[in-house]
Amino acid sequence: MAERFYVPVRVQLSVAFLVIITLSFFFAANTLTDYVSDYLFKQRIRQDSISVERLASTVAPLFASAQEEQLSKTLSESSGELGGRLLVLDMDGKIQFDAYSAMMGQRLPLPEVASLLSGVPQAFGIYRTDPALLGSGHVACCGSLLVGSRGNLGMLLLISDMDGMIRSLENVRSELLLIFGVVALLAVLAVVLFSHILTRPLTSLTEAIRSMGRGDFSARAPVRGLGEIRRLAENYNDMAEKLEHLDQDRSAFVSNASHELKTPMASMKVLIENMIYQPDMPEEIRTDFLQGVNEQIDRLSHIVTGLLELTRMDSHRTSLNMCDVDFSSLLSDAVRLMEPAASTRSQHIESVITPGLQVSGDPDRLMEIATNLIDNALKYSWDGATVQVRLTQKQKKLYFSVEDNGVGISPDDQKHIYDRFYRVDKARSRDTGGTGLGLSIVRQLVSMHGGEITLDSTLGKGSVFTVILPLKNRKEA
Ligand SMILES: Nc1ncnc2c1ncn2[C@@H]1O[C@H](COP(=O)(O)OP(=O)(O)OP(=O)(O)O)[C@@H](O)[C@H]1O
Ligand SMILES: [Mg+2]
Repeated sequence: MAERFYVPVRVQLSVAFLVIITLSFFFAANTLTDYVSDYLFKQRIRQDSISVERLASTVAPLFASAQEEQLSKTLSESSGELGGRLLVLDMDGKIQFDAYSAMMGQRLPLPEVASLLSGVPQAFGIYRTDPALLGSGHVACCGSLLVGSRGNLGMLLLISDMDGMIRSLENVRSELLLIFGVVALLAVLAVVLFSHILTRPLTSLTEAIRSMGRGDFSARAPVRGLGEIRRLAENYNDMAEKLEHLDQDRSAFVSNASHELKTPMASMKVLIENMIYQPDMPEEIRTDFLQGVNEQIDRLSHIVTGLLELTRMDSHRTSLNMCDVDFSSLLSDAVRLMEPAASTRSQHIESVITPGLQVSGDPDRLMEIATNLIDNALKYSWDGATVQVRLTQKQKKLYFSVEDNGVGISPDDQKHIYDRFYRVDKARSRDTGGTGLGLSIVRQLVSMHGGEITLDSTLGKGSVFTVILPLKNRKEA
């Protein structure tokens, strides 16, 4: 399958940040210059309006009394002071006076003129003008009505240059954009650096996972970084350690299983070869040999059955046929079942069983637990020994124990007693037909029934295995 296009997280993060920072800085620069220009325009409108209104009150009487010279002088002086071109228009919209003396008698097609003619006392506008009219570039036009004693006489217009201000604003805008651009670049560099630092542990983790994928379970991720990434590495390492143990257990299990299966087969081969190469073998010896082969087949089948059962439990394919079970009578049956085996070595099973204790479980599996533990107690005790089987209840739990005064188990061996194929004394255990699978199966079954198993043992003195299971309900004895 084709590998999908791979983009490292740090590149994705950098691109995302670059887009966010650029957009927000661009937006910020524009908004800021808009605010500044809005403020400056308003200031300008206020100033121009005040000046024009004040001048209009001076100019109105001069215009009314047609003192042209005085009017011309006042307007020329004021033009210089206000830094703009002053025009006086009559109520027909014709220019009666121009401080630049260029447009006398003409009409001005400006919206402010129209507003003032319609009687609005003041008007203001900023726009790019017709070069033929007032020169190129942006201008501000501020107008005020000239009011005489007999009504409106005309209007006074101040046309001033706005190019300087607009150019400054543009400069501010481009400077801001430049500053923001530099800051954005620095921010992106910082993001690249940080994302590299942040994602480095992820890269190491990916490497470790890849090594594990190739079968190297010893690969660990360096625990670096903060927060989730650190926790991820720690959790991964925990998981890797467990998997490594599992892998080791699995290898040990496979090699143990092969070894255990090889031993009876080797014995059978020797026995059968003997029979093949000694055709004149006496009948009793042949029968003995065949019995030997038969025993090895039993052993093989015992191992294979145990292995199958464990494998099924491992892959959760063992389902329990759960029902209400009278554990007390089940245990009595188990004792009865084991009695013939005990009597072959003059052993006794003593049982003290509280009657009527119910559990929820699979009767066949519970029987397997009981017989396995009693079998062990008999197997690892001396001839003529007595094994104690007890069943009591404490609170909502059932305590089933099997006690023997047999060989006992050392503390070191107790740690491994539930491991598959683990036998304290391999030779002796093999003589008694032990495979070392019994207790592994028992422990798994007990846990599948929601219980636990404990061991109290002293080497040379004996052992007590106790199974604790949740009670279904309590019946009064
Ligand atoms: N009651 C006991 N007293 C002393 N040692 C015991 C006792 N029960 C178990 N062991 C030791 O633990 C080992 C593992 O027991 P387990 O029941 O798993 O295997 P096994 O009895 O050898 O074989 P299997 O039960 O499969 O026939 C035994 O080989 C034995 O050495
Ligand atoms: Mg056993």
